[in-house]
Amino acid sequence: MKEDLNKILLTQEIIDKRVQELGSKIDLHYRDKEIVIITLLDGAIVFTADLIRNLAIPLRLDCLRVSSYGNSTDPETAPRILSSLKSDVKGKHVLLVDDILDTGNTLQSVHNEVSSKLPASVHSCVFLDKPDRRENGFKADWSGFSIPDEFVVGYGLDYAGKYRQLPYVGTLKPSVYNNDHLT
Ligand code: PRP
Repeated sequence: MKEDLNKILLTQEIIDKRVQELGSKIDLHYRDKEIVIITLLDGAIVFTADLIRNLAIPLRLDCLRVSSYGNSTDPETAPRILSSLKSDVKGKHVLLVDDILDTGNTLQSVHNEVSSKLPASVHSCVFLDKPDRRENGFKADWSGFSIPDEFVVGYGLDYAGKYRQLPYVGTLKPSVYNNDHLT
């Protein structure tokens, strides 16, 4: 799999250190308040698994499946929440966790939906942020790394469902996606 990569953008060591820092910042923000983490499947599972092991505050974990939608703001094709939460978030402090903030449409939609359930607060934490791609004003409260608009895989991020298990983040060789129609 490593041979499919052009370059490694973020090594495992750099990621580990940053996730620890994020954990400390989030702990400090909430102090000892209990939070509900809502993780967006599938991409955020790796980041979430590491992040929660760096948090000392009490937390409950919930997962949401949101439709893949091709980055559209059109209400017909905008991201749709496909599963329901097991937690009642009313009056709770909610932290949305995702692997990447791209156009911002997914997190904006989930933020709106969760806010409608009257939580005490809603914040968000993303592993990667591509600010150049934003289509709305969405800003994450915590972000691991801001990256340029390059196609990246690893640490939960996929290409055609693959590469999620890589413990680092890299860019794919163009030959991988250009030749895909041949395989
Ligand atoms: C990816 C990613 C985010 C979303 C970000 O999800 O996991 O949830 O896109 O894009 P946006 O900011 O433009 O809305 P994807 O639909 O690829 O599913 P996955 O998590 O299963 O990889």
